[in-house]
Amino acid sequence: MGTAAKTVMERCELLGGLSEDPDGIFRPYGSGSMREVNRLVSGWMRSAGLSVRTDAVGNLIGRYEGEAPETLVLGSHLDTVRDAGKYDGVLGVMIALSCVEQLGERRLPFSVEVVAFCDEEGVRFGTTYLGSSAFSGRFDGRLLDFGDEAGISLREAVRDFGGEPGTLVGAAPRRNLLGYCEVHIEQGPVLEHKNLPVGVVAGIQGQSRVRVSFTGGAGHAGTVPMQNRRDALCAASEFVLEVERAAKPGPDVVATVGELRVLPGASNVIPSSVVLSLDLRHPEDATRKRLRDALEERARGISTARGLGLGWEVRQESAAVPMHRGLSGTLRRAVESTGVSPLELPSGAGHDAAGMAAVAAAAMLFVRCRGGVSHNPAESVEEADVAVAVEVVGEFLRRLAEERA
Ligand code: HGY
Ligand code: MN
Ligand code: MN
Repeated sequence: MGTAAKTVMERCELLGGLSEDPDGIFRPYGSGSMREVNRLVSGWMRSAGLSVRTDAVGNLIGRYEGEAPETLVLGSHLDTVRDAGKYDGVLGVMIALSCVEQLGERRLPFSVEVVAFCDEEGVRFGTTYLGSSAFSGRFDGRLLDFGDEAGISLREAVRDFGGEPGTLVGAAPRRNLLGYCEVHIEQGPVLEHKNLPVGVVAGIQGQSRVRVSFTGGAGHAGTVPMQNRRDALCAASEFVLEVERAAKPGPDVVATVGELRVLPGASNVIPSSVVLSLDLRHPEDATRKRLRDALEERARGISTARGLGLGWEVRQESAAVPMHRGLSGTLRRAVESTGVSPLELPSGAGHDAAGMAAVAAAAMLFVRCRGGVSHNPAESVEEADVAVAVEVVGEFLRRLAEERA
């Protein structure tokens, strides 16, 4: 098995030790552990002969100068969810770096940038694709005023992370991009079920991220009769089950309430306010938006019936994005040349390729992960599958060079 795959696995292991949380992996945007991974990865990039820079939002970019300035971008993200696995995002950055490392003295007829996006998960500010939206010149300035749990604005966080928030809005989109290719764990069971090490992604489904708040009245748990209460947690609980009821029939809908904060949060106080996150996904945007609006109506019905206030803030809407047929075709042929049958599959998870597709032909390669488990410390990949992915991307680069020779 290639030493390249071994190095990729070792680096994922090493980066998995950098976290805000002593008991698990958690690297939110702008954190000390994100600084540490950027420092470590930039060292590996320099040793691979890449020129390294950090952009205005904190993306780490390693550039390999080819015979022409037209640039192929390879990358993924280094930030994580809470209690994350070692491979979501990180594997794609490490495989990209490994493939450029293996170029050695070989000159390609195009340049390559290995990009480690600084925020794809959006855990800290509730917005996804922060890094790739800035990189692709599509940053939504509205986000700069979003606050995190501590009330720190994204604007301050960008500045603290060494970035320049003022240059993010209206930044010119990157030009002269040959394409974008992202390797990522599948985060689903299909490749394992089909017994395939890798697969080519057909498209990325859209997602809505909404912040919902129910506001009632605090009160003494021992003295306020049940019928006089405006209990925010009871309202939120009714809504959470409504979300599940509306999504279960499907088909293809997924809806998740992943965050829920109760205030004031004391056992003998009736909850006065609850803020929760709603994550809605579906392959078709119109269906997703219809469900989003229907759930907003249900939330209004619940809050009115219980005499509570309702906050409904759509934090972010990301459209479904098909991958580029031409570039995916080259990737598919590269898979075939390694002897693996080139299965095409949809992505239920969001990826930076969704944002990058606005400025470049985008293609994605999935790598099998055990049990399809992700966003979970049990996330794992086989070194042999990583070796196949490294071989595919190497062949992908060779074919792109051949097409330009
Ligand atoms: O939420 C997602 O789909 C991705 O992991 N950010
Ligand atoms: Mn993820
Ligand atoms: Mn990811």
